[in-house]
Amino acid sequence: MTDHKPEGVSMGGDGDDGADLTPTVTLAQLYEEQGFLDKAAAVYKKLLVMEPDRAKLKNALEAVEKRLAASTPRPEKSETKTVLGHLTGWQKVIRERKKMLDQEGDKRRKILVIHGPNLNMLGRREPSVYGTATLEEIDEEIRKTAEECGMSADTFQSNHEGGLIEKIYEALDGYDVLIINAAAYTHTSVAIRDALLMLDIPIIEVHLSNIYRREPFRQKSMIADVATAQLAGFGKDGYTMAVRAAANMSRREKLTEESAESKST
Ligand code: DQA
Repeated sequence: MTDHKPEGVSMGGDGDDGADLTPTVTLAQLYEEQGFLDKAAAVYKKLLVMEPDRAKLKNALEAVEKRLAASTPRPEKSETKTVLGHLTGWQKVIRERKKMLDQEGDKRRKILVIHGPNLNMLGRREPSVYGTATLEEIDEEIRKTAEECGMSADTFQSNHEGGLIEKIYEALDGYDVLIINAAAYTHTSVAIRDALLMLDIPIIEVHLSNIYRREPFRQKSMIADVATAQLAGFGKDGYTMAVRAAANMSRREKLTEESAESKST
């Protein structure tokens, strides 16, 4: 295959240590600031190959070329090498740090929050019973609280029993705690109860309203005796309370696991 790389676009024009730097506008600007105008131009050219219509890049290249034509003196090669060495070093440090953060992210304990039917209509649905917050707002608070507790939370809503059941299966492997408001299915669904019975992680049942102060058919929960704990009647705060409780439960579990491990070794 032919190499279509245009002339003068190599990042390491003198076979130097800039060769493995990713071309970015920031890199070009750094070169500019340091007075390496030919290298800045090369980066802009490389970026323009990828995004030929980006006016900002064209203007930046023109400006650099004008400065080059006015022949601003170029720093000594040894100085160039030092600065490029630093740049390469920074990029490596940033890459390593990002990798570490990603790995740490993966290690965080995870909460799955499942919302049942009609909860997508929160905000518009009987606000005197369920409050005025929308599900999006509640989910945002859930994620924020989980992060404050050093955990991560995924949220899911469905109006379909099967969809809820299949989401519960996902908690079999990928999650440390399940928080569920099965909404109306709370009172009717043997199938959701059966799915929850498969899990060996803590399950927290949440209801916005106090179901025990409402119609008799709501006072029976098919999942209450499968759940580890239940919160009802706290409105949207019930979810953030559940997240904090989940973090405590998971912390205790982790400590128990660690002490069991240390005893066996
Ligand atoms: C609910 C109570 C259920 O009885 C009702 O069907 C819901 C919401 C609650 O959060 O209070 O949809 O689970």
